[in-house]
Amino acid sequence: MLTLGIETSCDETSVALLEGENSLRSHLILSQLEHEAFGGVVPELASRAHQKVLLPLLERSLAESGCALSEIGLIGVTVGPGLIGSLLVGICTAKTLALCLDRPLIGVNHVEAHLMANLLLPDPPAPPFVALLVSGGHTLLVEVDRWGEYLILGRSRDDAVGESFDKVAKMLELGYPGGPAIEKAARRGDPSSFAFPRPMLKDPTLDMSFSGLKTAVLYEVEGLRASGAFEGRQADLAASFQAAVVEVLAVKCRRACERSGAKTLVVAGGVARNALLRSSLAAFSARTGVRVIFPPLDLCTDNAGMVARTALFHYSNGRRDSLEVPAFATGSLDWPSAG
Ligand code: KG4
Ligand code: ZN
Repeated sequence: MLTLGIETSCDETSVALLEGENSLRSHLILSQLEHEAFGGVVPELASRAHQKVLLPLLERSLAESGCALSEIGLIGVTVGPGLIGSLLVGICTAKTLALCLDRPLIGVNHVEAHLMANLLLPDPPAPPFVALLVSGGHTLLVEVDRWGEYLILGRSRDDAVGESFDKVAKMLELGYPGGPAIEKAARRGDPSSFAFPRPMLKDPTLDMSFSGLKTAVLYEVEGLRASGAFEGRQADLAASFQAAVVEVLAVKCRRACERSGAKTLVVAGGVARNALLRSSLAAFSARTGVRVIFPPLDLCTDNAGMVARTALFHYSNGRRDSLEVPAFATGSLDWPSAG
């Protein structure tokens, strides 16, 4: 069966045509450049940009893959969490197609979709496993005993890890999006230049916190600026900040695996692109024998491939959503099923 996936929850417009379980006949992702000048996503600009490009992107997807609209058997669309105006562009398009083509529609939880990106791998991870979900809006450690059933082991109590990358990048004047900018600058820096805190490492829970770390960077930047010593230190600040974040994530992942007895750790979300996080967890894997799985880079950030795969999962398990399925601005993995 051919599944159409549509993703418009934030600043990526994406369309995917998924054949069967893991063959992407087409997968197009357009990142909006409109926001660069503002140093962050401007919701109104995002929804207008989705509106402009979504249908042309769908047409291109069909043309390039040689598929016809009539071949689509199932439609999956992100319904939340995300920016409401942006979500509605994708949802209205998906509902219209579902109505006109008379095909089933599944509303997809974006956070679950990040995790289910791993189902697109040629050898997908089989539960039980522990998952680390790290994106611009979420930081979760989850125990997965069956796909579709999630036990939250820990979460960030304040900023999401991607959000802290974005905010620190802004402080360091490195531009937007912050994660890749910090990673790039950090390559030229010394991670031991600044002794930033490793928040909540001594806390016995698997919860995390990143806002204090962000504030520690802010104070350091203010001090350096006041003494005229800020210029030229961005790379060292970026490397020291990145090292602190990755150490916290790696330690919490190790503890989550130890406590649950999991032999597999699955990582997902935009921050899973980070090379230091990847190498640090690869070293953990080599030390302990825990299998660590990351999706390929293009399946980490927002994409419609993961949305199509999540829709197919729920459809195959009997779920059917009505054309009334609403958009959700907030929520997480434990957010109620859209069905
Ligand atoms: O999953 P995603 O594309 O969108 C959300 O659902 O939020 O994640 C975007 C987040 C942004 O905060 C971005 O700065 C971060 O992922 N990110 C990275 C890297 N690439 C993207 N963070 C650290 N290192 C990266 N290489
Ligand atoms: Zn996302």
